Amino acid sequence: MKLIWNQKLSVGVDAIDDQHKELINKINDLTETIFKGEEKEKVVEFIEFLDNYVTAHFSHEEAMMLKADYPEIVSHIREHAAFITKLDTFKRNFNATGHTPELSFETQKWLYGWLLSHVSKQDKLVGAYINSKAGTA
Ligand SMILES: [Fe+2]
Repeated sequence: MKLIWNQKLSVGVDAIDDQHKELINKINDLTETIFKGEEKEKVVEFIEFLDNYVTAHFSHEEAMMLKADYPEIVSHIREHAAFITKLDTFKRNFNATGHTPELSFETQKWLYGWLLSHVSKQDKLVGAYINSKAGTA
């Protein structure tokens, strides 16, 4: 199963949408690596790669929220931080056990679920807010 970006996931800000598309590619690559049965070192390497991309993406989003004076910035940043913490937990688990089917499915389910829910709720609110401010400026 692969995640595919579609218009329903658009937050209405091109720069964020482009990063989300790239993020989806990276998540698909990671889950493919896991399910191909690659060595745990390779999986951990991919998780680190995803971690770096996500950290840069979150910083970008957070800078946009700050610039726009987004009122829900604190709770949004908390969701980002929770994602990074959980990703670290998966990285540690893969390091410890290698990929068991349970861990692989759990990781995929969580990554897909988190992304779809965070983007379609939280990030859309940010996009709408930024666009509404742009309209009044
Ligand atoms: Fe976000």
